[in-house]
Amino acid sequence: MRRIETIEPFRVMQLLERAKALEAQGRHIVHLEIGEPDFPTPPPVIRAAHRQLDAGGQWYTPSTGLPELQQELSRWYMREYGVSIAPERILITPGTSGAFSLLYAVLLDAGESVLLSDPGYPCQRNFIRLAGGRPVSIPVTPQTRYHLSADLVDRHWQDGTRAAVIINPSNPTGTLIDERELARVAACCAAHGGYLISDEIYHGLTYGRSAPTALAFDERTIVVNGFSKRWAMTGWRIGWTIVPEELIDPCRRVMQNIFIAAPTLSQHAAIAALKAEEEVERMRQAYDRRRRFLLEALPELGFDVVVEPQGAFYIYAHVGRLTRDATRFCWRLLEEAGVAITPGEDFGRFRAQQHLRFSYATGLDDIQCGIRRIADFLKRAESA
Ligand SMILES: Cc1ncc(COP(=O)(O)O)c(C=O)c1O
Repeated sequence: MRRIETIEPFRVMQLLERAKALEAQGRHIVHLEIGEPDFPTPPPVIRAAHRQLDAGGQWYTPSTGLPELQQELSRWYMREYGVSIAPERILITPGTSGAFSLLYAVLLDAGESVLLSDPGYPCQRNFIRLAGGRPVSIPVTPQTRYHLSADLVDRHWQDGTRAAVIINPSNPTGTLIDERELARVAACCAAHGGYLISDEIYHGLTYGRSAPTALAFDERTIVVNGFSKRWAMTGWRIGWTIVPEELIDPCRRVMQNIFIAAPTLSQHAAIAALKAEEEVERMRQAYDRRRRFLLEALPELGFDVVVEPQGAFYIYAHVGRLTRDATRFCWRLLEEAGVAITPGEDFGRFRAQQHLRFSYATGLDDIQCGIRRIADFLKRAESA
């Protein structure tokens, strides 16, 4: 099979297209499917970008990033996590998506594998395939809070495995990995001579407890993070990866070739974002209010939330009490109730038809309206 044939579409896009078509016909749709902050980018970030535009100088930055941003991120790691990171290890990328295509291009030779959780963020599999690698999806359950454990990583590691990926907090489940387990996973990857890749894009969007960076446990860990979620900057396409010394030069060579540099304007804006703590905290509190509302409302309707999500803006619900076909259920909810939700099949295969992902990156009024509509839909279905 040609490589391109292995690249799967994002299935929820079809649902989203249908939602847009219904909206064009005048229907109001509640969007609980989209994993993108509904908040605008914080005003200090916009102001910094305006200043930078007025000052001119929108040339390429060095491939690994604007040195000022690397230094600011290094200071931020000390403030945020108390860890010391040399600025030159922090590589600035076009979104975390840019960081992943970079890393797999650097790490993988043909046929080499990367361990992933199922359910997990779907693009990962495709990034790996595009680099000629082989994604190995490992079923995960509530027992490990839907994360890979050191035991799972150890059991699935083979010759030619180069890395394991942890997304913490997880997309789609919003769950945090146990801190000691994260340390064990890092040690396990190091013992096999490979890398732990820690996707920390939802750090800062946690409720009740914060997530430590995996860098705190092992110097060889590769961290990926970005401004899209916590700072509500999806369209700015800006992120970063922190790599061990030995990967800096290989990464630089690939960066020079595949994207030259991350967008200059966004890099300047990102410096301001790192200081916009109050704005970020206000968004976090709003997400938490929505999360708590849904955690109360969903089980009453028959959606079971087995592990309480403490991060991101997602709730992964078991729908076994309501249907055996989560995909069909989502389509019916869209057509008959005007509520869009992502079916489990977008995140893998394991128990996919028993799960849905609710995103609460939507205003509370809309979320409440969505819950009322789902309740009416279920009542109608019961009496039919
Ligand atoms: C877990 C995870 N990683 C990475 C990304 C990509 O983010 P970006 O490329 O905007 O930084 C997303 C986006 O939804 C995500 O959920």
